[in-house]
Amino acid sequence: MDFKIATLPGDGIGPEIVDQAIKVMNAVGEKYGHQFDFEFAPTGAAAIDAVGEPYPDSTHEVCMNADAVLFGAIGDPKYDNDPKAKVRPEQGLLLMRKKLGLYANIRPVATFPSLIDKSPLKNDRVEGADFVVVRELTGGIYFGDKGRSEDLNRAFDNCVYTKEEVERILKLAYDYAGKRNKRLTVVDKANVLSTSRLWREVAQEMEKDYADIETDYMFVDNAAMQLIQWPKKFDVMVTENMFGDILSDEASVITGSLGLLPSASVGVHTSVFEPIHGSYPQAAGKNIANPVATILSAAMLLESLNLLEEAKAVRDAVNASLDADFVTEDINKEAGKSTSEVGDWIAAKVKA
Ligand code: IPM
Ligand code: MN
Repeated sequence: MDFKIATLPGDGIGPEIVDQAIKVMNAVGEKYGHQFDFEFAPTGAAAIDAVGEPYPDSTHEVCMNADAVLFGAIGDPKYDNDPKAKVRPEQGLLLMRKKLGLYANIRPVATFPSLIDKSPLKNDRVEGADFVVVRELTGGIYFGDKGRSEDLNRAFDNCVYTKEEVERILKLAYDYAGKRNKRLTVVDKANVLSTSRLWREVAQEMEKDYADIETDYMFVDNAAMQLIQWPKKFDVMVTENMFGDILSDEASVITGSLGLLPSASVGVHTSVFEPIHGSYPQAAGKNIANPVATILSAAMLLESLNLLEEAKAVRDAVNASLDADFVTEDINKEAGKSTSEVGDWIAAKVKA
């Protein structure tokens, strides 16, 4: 079959890691008789430099007309260190999420048996850990009113949620839990925040309709601790936008490297697949970044196109590369391979 893939490499290491995912998808295409047409479009700092805005309409159009979006990373230090910048690369990512209606971000965290020793946690704590963070992606403090007072001495960011927004993300999380181990942890700060109390109210109402799923509730500070102490006790965790941002970064180190974890953002229009890590500007252009998170994001993309066997072939090839210790330097400091070598290896394995 033929598929149109909107391809948004973005900033920093984005282009290098996306190249590896493309290699692997082309290997899938060859092996299984599909054609992937990658249509490139600018986003982030790269787009600001080219056309003055981080998510131009032309890029949005490419995304809307595609079967899926493959996304690299966004962010550039020249903006991080300039709090006064009027346009920021990150606004592109947020605008894309909003305009595509990507209300759910799914971040699976699974340990890789061959990398257990790379985890900063003790083996017995992490062995077999396997959970999913479902992060609400188009609401909350990221999208509420924000601003500064005229004298600039006061700033605010409002956190807003509607009942409908909470219901739709919880529904998706419940469906996910139903397909997994039937446990859902709702993470909030209901002891302090009224948006969290709305979340809890809605969840307690919905809980009754999902009698086969065990729902529990956890304050986010406690969740941050339990995640590191007992990662195995979680199955599906659902939470609002910013809590999900923070907890998923925290969760990612459990597996041994931030460079391993993929994500899918789904919602109303075309879904987006991207690594959970950032643009890692220090490594840009050096061919050292770990492409695995992006390659695994491509596997999630294939699944979304219902190419299940193909997705499994990609995962198997990634696992084989890890077992063979054919990995980048974030995992093997002494004998790390380059980004493109790892991409070539995995692509060749898929074809074999
Ligand atoms: C992420 C990133 C983004 C976020 C940034 C780059 C805006 O950290 O996808 O997790 O905070 O959502
Ligand atoms: Mn983040």
